[in-house]
Amino acid sequence: MAEKLRTLIIEIDPETVRQIDILGRQTGTVDIRWKTVSVAEGAEIVRKFRPDMAIVGVNGDPTRVIAPLAKEFPHLYILALSAMRDGDHVLQAMRAGAHDLLTRPVREVDLCIAAEKAQKTRVRKDPAERRGKIVSVFSNKGGNGTTTIASNLADALATRHGKKVIVVDLVLALGDVTMFFNVSPSYTILDLAKNADKADPEYLHSLLARHQSGVYILADPPRIEDADHISAEQVREMLMALRSMFDVVIVDTPHQFDEKTLTALEMSDTVLLVTLLNLPSLKNTQRSIELFCRLGFLDERVRLVLSRYLPNEEISKESIEGIMNCPIFFAVPNDYPTVLSSVNRGKLLSEIAPDKEVTLAFRQMAELLEGPATSHEPPRKKRGFLERVFRPERCAR
Ligand SMILES: Nc1ncnc2c1ncn2[C@@H]1O[C@H](COP(=O)(O)OP(=O)(O)OP(=O)(O)O)[C@@H](O)[C@H]1O
Ligand SMILES: [Mg+2]
Repeated sequence: MAEKLRTLIIEIDPETVRQIDILGRQTGTVDIRWKTVSVAEGAEIVRKFRPDMAIVGVNGDPTRVIAPLAKEFPHLYILALSAMRDGDHVLQAMRAGAHDLLTRPVREVDLCIAAEKAQKTRVRKDPAERRGKIVSVFSNKGGNGTTTIASNLADALATRHGKKVIVVDLVLALGDVTMFFNVSPSYTILDLAKNADKADPEYLHSLLARHQSGVYILADPPRIEDADHISAEQVREMLMALRSMFDVVIVDTPHQFDEKTLTALEMSDTVLLVTLLNLPSLKNTQRSIELFCRLGFLDERVRLVLSRYLPNEEISKESIEGIMNCPIFFAVPNDYPTVLSSVNRGKLLSEIAPDKEVTLAFRQMAELLEGPATSHEPPRKKRGFLERVFRPERCAR
């Protein structure tokens, strides 16, 4: 089945928006991610997030609302939404730049047909255009296992599913993804931030670090203070550039809600919200969920992940789902000795303990995200870890 169309709706009637939102979910065709009542705000959203489709409510002259969007965004698929269906009106909407017209009240069958047409146009428009998935791994508390999840999930997606994967270390001050992969690239997120808009994909590939699993790594900047030299706007541009080059962009995020983190979360197709099975952690996670809700991006994109999971008689999985009002997507088993040894040796879990339950868990998580595995792991080469961690050039810049 085709991926849902990431859709912006510009419409003043909240009941119509609600109805289309429900129909989109029920039919699995349209994902209403952005809602606004004004064309100016809608244009801002398109500039920022490049949705696949815009549903634009027309009350009166279609030219007024559609033409400005069609002119500025020639690649945006515009679906005019109107109560009128007479020939003149349809013609006017098309001439203003709409690709299709949906009549109010919207019927399920019409939305499906419109979405199918939009999908076909999208594929035809630019078959070379890739749009990989962004998967952010987030926890509002440190030490819960986000980097462990980001790294080992990336490994499973690359080696078992043949996906072209990159892990982006958005923990700009004191990230540690490079340690997990035992790489020390001289090209970092700071360099890409400065050049994301003009980054040539081939040139970029030659600069990015590549682990023997096939996973690419975009490292944190060399100095703590460099974090301040990267803006939320640059994070957005970087993620857009990387999304066009990779099948999956995994973002290891910091544990606070700053603008850069929120940008990454907002752009994500999936947010793995990591928590532990204890009351303080669950309480904090609930507050994150509440914030996501207020920001308008609590939907099926947010997946709750229990890290370091040990079955617990006092707090059952079921009771958490009830309290959080969010299903548990996955539970990563607790195996401290194996995970610690993997980190300390600069090896991924699949390299040091391919058959352990915790390693297999990441394969299962990858399958939940991507469907059944297609490929097998390539042979690994040996490398000196300490030597690489302390290589001078990573801090000499
Ligand atoms: N499944 C697991 N079982 C047992 N221990 C784990 C597991 N996952 C992670 N850990 C341990 O938890 C600690 C934190 O892991 P990790 O660095 O992945 O978390 P983090 O949320 O990225 O932390 P930080 O806040 O430092 O970025 C490490 O000591 C790691 O070994
Ligand atoms: Mg971390």
